[in-house]
Amino acid sequence: MNAPAAAPATTAVAVAQSLAVRCVEFEGGPDDAALALRTLTSALTVSSGPAHPRPVSEAAPGHASVALPLGGTAMVSVTPAAPGRWAATVTVTDPGSASDEDVDALLAVVDRLPLTGREVDQIRRDLPITGAVAALAGPGALEGLAVVAAIHHMRDFAGLLHALIECGADPAQMTIIDKGYPYRMRERVDGWLECQGVALVDYPQRALGIAAHLDRAKAAGMRTLVMDDGGYVLPVVLDRFPERPGEIVGVVEQTTSGIWRLADHHPLPVPVFSVAESQLKSAVEAPHVAAAALSSVMAHLPDETWAGRPALVIGYGRLGRQTAAQLRDTHRMRVAVHDLSAAALVTAHQDGHRVGRDLGALIAEHRPLLVMGCAGHGSLLAEHAAAFQASAYLASVTSRDHEFPLTGWARSARRVVDHEPVGHTYVMDDDVELCVLGDGLPVNFHHRESLPTRVIDLVFAALLLGGLTLAEPGQGGHGPGVNVPLVDQILGASPALATYLDLYAEEPSSLSAGSGAGGVRRLVTAAPDGLPDHTRSAWTYGRRPR
Ligand SMILES: NC(=O)c1ccc[n+]([C@@H]2O[C@H](COP(=O)([O-])OP(=O)(O)OC[C@H]3O[C@@H](n4cnc5c(N)ncnc54)[C@H](O)[C@@H]3O)[C@@H](O)[C@H]2O)c1
Repeated sequence: MNAPAAAPATTAVAVAQSLAVRCVEFEGGPDDAALALRTLTSALTVSSGPAHPRPVSEAAPGHASVALPLGGTAMVSVTPAAPGRWAATVTVTDPGSASDEDVDALLAVVDRLPLTGREVDQIRRDLPITGAVAALAGPGALEGLAVVAAIHHMRDFAGLLHALIECGADPAQMTIIDKGYPYRMRERVDGWLECQGVALVDYPQRALGIAAHLDRAKAAGMRTLVMDDGGYVLPVVLDRFPERPGEIVGVVEQTTSGIWRLADHHPLPVPVFSVAESQLKSAVEAPHVAAAALSSVMAHLPDETWAGRPALVIGYGRLGRQTAAQLRDTHRMRVAVHDLSAAALVTAHQDGHRVGRDLGALIAEHRPLLVMGCAGHGSLLAEHAAAFQASAYLASVTSRDHEFPLTGWARSARRVVDHEPVGHTYVMDDDVELCVLGDGLPVNFHHRESLPTRVIDLVFAALLLGGLTLAEPGQGGHGPGVNVPLVDQILGASPALATYLDLYAEEPSSLSAGSGAGGVRRLVTAAPDGLPDHTRSAWTYGRRPR
């Protein structure tokens, strides 16, 4: 690999003077690097419009100087950072008449650098079950359907979208709702989505976006398939456009809150394929979500000490039970549990946790340092603030900011302190601090990627199978409404589970046969083509081998 070209001296000077610089690292080959340079330079100049073309000059290999729309210049560079990794940097060397906000908008083009081909290939390699389902279905399976998807904008979504396209869904007829959570890679995923030609809609504008989607699909003579994660689409259609559910072939719902949101709308006029309540999802997801949420808490508070200290879990369902177990067994905390359901409390008690039916009394007596909201319906009320005798961190593991009464606490707090990116704290009159991590949004998504790609694979495969089923002429026998036993039957009979076992179970029979995916264990670090061969010299203290 060539040595990185030296950046022009002016770059460093401008950095020191204005700090108007932003950088992102990405994976790829030289072609991806060249494309990144072109993408960034054109994104910086695009607003100058065709009537005022601005010169872009190659300053040195991997660097370009860009004349900005409002006067001034920027330097773009894409230079090697490590084998197969590149650093893309934009430095506004002269802002011209741009305001600080304009400069920030210019720098944001780096955040939105689309995922590279190599990165998407790697994501797809880590979703082999989803890929196998798509390959089996073939390119005609979703042809003629306009897809609306409200799936989390993490890197793995690129793999699911690819699978939908492979099954015949046309990106030009797709609408993607961006939930707005601050996922670690959200901007780059959105940049990639834009390149696919889909319509991107922000969460607050979702009703307008859904109406525009239905209009577009109708004009093209297509019906709509919804891939939802939290009831973002069908409840809106039923409330706002009650004459239009007939334009929807069906809904695949990934999460429990999406099913809850439909509770007021029964009988449902369209099939809702509930992956959320399926045995497959219960078997796979909850331990990983709990682990991702707790790892996010610990990562955002690296200097806190947890072992031996009190934690409270509110809501002892699928997620709450796993969260409580990991708090005790992995983080060695003393766990108390509250749930509205007596059966859930008995289960928690049998699991060895302290339980309490009166949440206020439990908070006052247990004095939790950490509260994990796992109820999904709003676990704490504004008046519970008074029960806290000692300061506490609070983290949601569920959906949006529904878990804690943020508005009520903001009203009664003496001060509200911003701890971005950790969250914010309500300082109450008695000096008790309630620090809400991730601003009350689910912590496993807070500047994180949540679940490992290979873990979400089975869930994505189930979503895809749901979409494929609802796209069939007879919809696999799934009539309007929710039919969990049928969903379990369809998923249980699908090749997805066998593919999972082939890949990961490493059963003696498949290993001794030496064939099939089970015989070849693939690491996530597998080198793609084009990476330089590593030197064989040993690692020595204080120096990486080159
Ligand atoms: N963050 C994520 O990645 C993620 C992943 C999966 C599910 N979810 C969401 O998490 C939520 C919970 O999912 P689940 O599968 O554990 O649900 P679940 O139905 O298995 O468990 C919820 C539990 O909370 C209890 N509960 C409800 N309201 C309560 C309240 N006000 N006070 C105390 N207890 C209450 C219920 O009795 C039940 O035991 C849902 O909103 C789901 O959509 C989030």
